[in-house]
Amino acid sequence: MKLVLIGFGTVGQGFTEILRDRLDELRTRYGFRPLLVGVATRSRGTLLHPDGLDFDALLTASAGGSLTAYPDTPGLLRDLPALELIARSDADVLLEASWTDLQSAQPATDYCRAAFDAGMHVILANKGPVALHYADLHARARSAGRHLRFEGTVMAGTPALALAQEALAGCRIDFVRGILNGTTNYMLTQMAEGQPYADALATAQRLGYAEADPTADVGGWDAAAKAMILAAALFDQQLTLDQLDVTGITDLTITQINAAAAAGERYKLIAEITPSGARIAPLRLPLTDPLAQVSGATNAITYQTDLLGPVTLIGAGAGRLETGYALLGDLLAIHRQIPQ
Ligand code: HSE
Repeated sequence: MKLVLIGFGTVGQGFTEILRDRLDELRTRYGFRPLLVGVATRSRGTLLHPDGLDFDALLTASAGGSLTAYPDTPGLLRDLPALELIARSDADVLLEASWTDLQSAQPATDYCRAAFDAGMHVILANKGPVALHYADLHARARSAGRHLRFEGTVMAGTPALALAQEALAGCRIDFVRGILNGTTNYMLTQMAEGQPYADALATAQRLGYAEADPTADVGGWDAAAKAMILAAALFDQQLTLDQLDVTGITDLTITQINAAAAAGERYKLIAEITPSGARIAPLRLPLTDPLAQVSGATNAITYQTDLLGPVTLIGAGAGRLETGYALLGDLLAIHRQIPQ
């Protein structure tokens, strides 16, 4: 399976590391043979090689700050514009893992459209195109007869979307409630233990949880994007950001957090999605609420279903390998459906 990867930040590097370390296992267990033919970054160069790029060399070059340090090999093309790279790649799958832009979701959305036009499947870890343009991308995938998958956009590689769309298919989901942002859950956990807001945020950034612009995390917008993705994928509802009621954790003080603790409660940034809308807000939960027990960068989601009652999934919500794995999980899901 030939792959083109857009973006080589936290997620792209995590994914590449996983492929490097599991190549033999993936081949013997699943007959899965990925070949990464192209990588495109916005400001750190692009690389295309029809025979595949070397994972270690890519990671080493990128650790130095740019893909220009990738060694010359016969047939290697450098610095093609991303759209041209996609068109010339002859790849089977486009992996979109560039940073999330919730204003326009561009140029990532155009890359996905170009991939469908070229007959490729599309997998996203980038939330912007799915949050803003799900209906359009879904229609294009259908008319091209290709897969559109985006597990990494909600709860990193924890299979929140697969659970709802595949395992719970046949149930009606009445509403969804969850902790969908790892950065703020980590910060709230640290702050409850006495760490100042700024220190907790700095650590979340260092650990690779936060967005390139962390105001999206602390302002609640990252959780809002995930709520929009769930509303679109589960309830066929294309919301816009200004239709959501969004409050982040920027105004939450240590005094409020301590007062909650003294009353046997914990603040959590909760996303609620129903068939008619969504809201994000820090809520005080009693310790008896399972979501109150979810700490650190861990996320949790509860699907309220008609046939099973509440079904809750708890797992990683952010991180390099945790989100990198989401791309692999989606690739294997596509691979399973291709006759061998
Ligand atoms: N910044 C996001 C978070 C990354 O903290 O949850 C995963 O989407």
